[in-house]
Amino acid sequence: MQTLDRKLDIQPLSRADMTIQLNGQPVSVANGETVLSVLNAVGLRQVARNDHAQLSGAFCGMGVCHCCLVSINGRPKRRACQTVVQPGMQVETLSNRFDGQEAP
Ligand code: FES
Repeated sequence: MQTLDRKLDIQPLSRADMTIQLNGQPVSVANGETVLSVLNAVGLRQVARNDHAQLSGAFCGMGVCHCCLVSINGRPKRRACQTVVQPGMQVETLSNRFDGQEAP
């Protein structure tokens, strides 16, 4: 399977330390970066669907707004901006088990 292209990094990733799965596709990541950093690097801006089925994306970047909620390792509503990547992590965007909506 092809690794997702990190075409929007401010600086090119100098060394990939591990791979995570983003919506079922592998993406190379570095130790210490957040899930939000990875989402931004691959160009995913609208990542969350709230309880009212509205799309949202990261707003504050510091854990306050809850606009960056994604599913991580099967656990819904994890803040991408506050979660550091781990080897083999599974991240799903546009998922919210409480809204009753299917992801587009
Ligand atoms: S961007 Fe605001 S909580 Fe993550």
